[in-house]
Amino acid sequence: MKYYIITYGCQMNKSDSERIASILEKIKYQPAQKIEEADLIIVNACSVRQSAIDRIYGQNKYFNKLKNRNAKLKIILTGCLLNKDKEEMSKIFDFIIDIKEIAKLPQLIGRKVKLDKNLLENYFHIEPKYSSKIEAYVPIMTGCNNYCAYCVVPYTRGPEISRPAQEIIKEIKNLIKNGYKKITLLGQNVNSYKSEIQNRNKAKFYKFTKVKKVDFTELIKMINALYGKFWFSFITNHPKDMSERLIKTLPHLDKFCHYLHLPVQSGSNTILKRMNRHYTITSYKKIIKRLRQLLPDLNLSTDIIVGFPGENEKQFLATKKLMEEIKFDMAYIACYSPRPQTTAFKLNDNIPYEEKQRRKKILNKILAKTALENNKKYLAKEMEVLVTNKDPKKKNVFYGETKNCKKVAISSRKNLIGKFIKVKIISAETWGLKGEIL
Ligand code: SAH
Ligand code: SF4
Ligand code: F3S
Repeated sequence: MKYYIITYGCQMNKSDSERIASILEKIKYQPAQKIEEADLIIVNACSVRQSAIDRIYGQNKYFNKLKNRNAKLKIILTGCLLNKDKEEMSKIFDFIIDIKEIAKLPQLIGRKVKLDKNLLENYFHIEPKYSSKIEAYVPIMTGCNNYCAYCVVPYTRGPEISRPAQEIIKEIKNLIKNGYKKITLLGQNVNSYKSEIQNRNKAKFYKFTKVKKVDFTELIKMINALYGKFWFSFITNHPKDMSERLIKTLPHLDKFCHYLHLPVQSGSNTILKRMNRHYTITSYKKIIKRLRQLLPDLNLSTDIIVGFPGENEKQFLATKKLMEEIKFDMAYIACYSPRPQTTAFKLNDNIPYEEKQRRKKILNKILAKTALENNKKYLAKEMEVLVTNKDPKKKNVFYGETKNCKKVAISSRKNLIGKFIKVKIISAETWGLKGEIL
């Protein structure tokens, strides 16, 4: 039997899909190279924008065609979904399963295997089938308590839950032992991570347990102290939780990749307030200034929403100005999409589609300019690169990432995957660099 997973959404969903694959391979399902060969299709969906949901509806006809060809075919929906989206999509799927209950999947498709309670209680205990041998995602928390006015995550993933630090460290240690060189910590809001560590000290006549609180700064210090040559990064951060203590710690961590994703969402304080973001443009800029002081080679990306209800031209221009000033390396610019259950859903979505597109296009143009300008600074520089993969089509072309997560293409006759190499940057384009091996 063969399976095929379609993943929508962010890295968290990609990481979840690695756990789904692992559950299926335990019951001897094999990955299908093409969707047409599959006996089981899992759609791991994302409710963050209506467009991602519409794309799934768009597949309905195609799914029916596949079912006519293969009577055994089952199509299952899971993911980061609003109940409303689940209900509406129930007609086009055989089953719907909550991502946290993915351990039940074998039973759902009629396999008589014993349910592992441990995996059901905590789906992070499912060992993922990592999609690379070099880089791995490690979720450190799930959920969100922030209730930004537009966002579904607090409703789809529930409240913030941090994984115990010991469990995270064990998982990373194991990855490093198995040759992994790049670890990406995942969470909707990694810099509000909180857990506790129990230090058991056995004295002669008594036992006592010391509880040590571990916040995000402590966690990354612990990760950095692990033995071995590897790099780590993390996504995503909330500007309001970017404490001075965390910022001051970053330059001291030799394994930390100088890359941060710091979603700003808007350049207007009025809009930020209405989005319930809890920071101002002045405080955001202060954070960036401080970060760049301490990490001059910082690679910085952001998320922006255009056309939030009531966003006028002046407020949009404030976002444009902010982008021109900050000069991001990358920005994910989204048109506002009203989502049920969120507080902004009650507001009038008054910016027409064409106007949202116009604003998005203007911002993307600025991004392309600043991204290219930033990349040009690397020309003729010598940089260390971790080679992560090979171009499947072009001969002798490999791709890697610098210590600050800049994508670099390299040509080589030797297989370099998994190696740290020194390159000289010979060309700088908008979305990547080209390097020559030294
Ligand atoms: N916790 C993450 C957010 C995850 S959602 C973070 O703060 O980075 C990823 C991005 O999708 C958000 O940053 C936002 O820019 C965008 N987004 C979320 N809800 C949206 C909506 N209703 N319409 C358009 N974009 C949205
Ligand atoms: Fe989508 Fe957000 Fe869930 Fe990621 S966390 S899958 S972006 S809804
Ligand atoms: Fe969403 Fe805001 Fe949390 S964007 S994930 S509610 S920080």
